[in-house]
Amino acid sequence: MIDVSLILPTRNEASNIAEAIARAKSVLADVSYEIIVVDDNSPDGTSDIARAIAADDRTVRCVQRVGRRGLASACIEGALAASGRVIAVMDADLQHDETILPKLIAPVLTGDADIAIGTRYVSGGGTEGWSDEREAQSQFATRLTRMLTKTELTDPMSGFFAIRADQFRGLIPKLSGRGFKILLDIVFAASGNLRVHEEPFVFRGRESGESKLDTPTAIQFLMMLYDRVLGHIIPARFALFGAVGSLGVIVHFAVLALVFQGLGTNFLIGQASAVFVAMTFNFFLNNLLTFHDVRLRGWALLKGWVSFSLVCGLGAIANVGVASYLFSEAGVLWTISALAGILVGVVWNYVMSSRFTWGQL
Ligand code: GDD
Ligand code: MN
Repeated sequence: MIDVSLILPTRNEASNIAEAIARAKSVLADVSYEIIVVDDNSPDGTSDIARAIAADDRTVRCVQRVGRRGLASACIEGALAASGRVIAVMDADLQHDETILPKLIAPVLTGDADIAIGTRYVSGGGTEGWSDEREAQSQFATRLTRMLTKTELTDPMSGFFAIRADQFRGLIPKLSGRGFKILLDIVFAASGNLRVHEEPFVFRGRESGESKLDTPTAIQFLMMLYDRVLGHIIPARFALFGAVGSLGVIVHFAVLALVFQGLGTNFLIGQASAVFVAMTFNFFLNNLLTFHDVRLRGWALLKGWVSFSLVCGLGAIANVGVASYLFSEAGVLWTISALAGILVGVVWNYVMSSRFTWGQL
């Protein structure tokens, strides 16, 4: 019988994975365990290294995912492949203090807790070698998360924990699986039904390799929080699409001012260039933010831009059509008519570009 399945998610950790496995093995010596490396087809060959270790050691396995990305979904696939009673998740870059691992596993194995979480924000825990800026960002995100989600967890952003395997797998249908905050995903899905144990640890500095946490990931995280709080009223993607659209209006006016006022062209040329630039700007920003998880690259990007332009062109016709009908035929106030036209245009653009440009819905 296997007590613990340890999941090590990896993306470009060729320089760390062997050491991470070795350290995990040394602290797990007292329990029966398996180690599952879930690698997202890292170009640096992390999967090959993990497989070479697995070939010599039956406690180690590698799940190599092709065409799928994301820390949260990697942990979920690891959990689905696991056979232990407890599932533990630890970063593979040596930043999580592996000596805490037995203290996370023990209370879950004995049944004293359903989930045990490594936390940086109680006494005895902390972060090592972080800039003041990174520290402040993390504290801010933690406070925001605690406030918005009303969680009692001291470190809801932690990615270092152990949980009863049957409970984890039972919650999987309810998980969003998006982004990198698997713990929050689990805690939300469980809606207060998990008995939690917290264990302080010091988050180490990274010695080699790079963090995968970039600005788009952070925005995705904010989207997840938003979804949690307001998502049932206006979906996060639509809100972001609308926000990008508002920026597009600013770009439109900037270009119009430059071309029409600055260069002194006729209005038609000014307006046409402004539409072209603003639409292109919106397409790329939406691709980067709103549809980050399914973003287009290479040739698909060019095709996407064409379909986005077509969708928005029709959206503009719908906008003008609705607004002028309301104004001239139905006698509605001009401001309300214009707003209604804009709303119809935005919803059209969102629904149609989700479907035809990014293949969603
Ligand atoms: N399979 C897979 N797919 N693994 C990934 C991916 C991915 O898309 N992105 C990152 N990982 C792996 C990394 O290789 C590493 O082992 C671990 O997940 C953490 O990724 P880092 O990029 O090193 O994250 P970090 O150090 O910035 O963030 C850590 O701190 C957060 C708290 O601030 C992580 O531990 C998070 O889990 C934690 O919430
Ligand atoms: Mn890291």
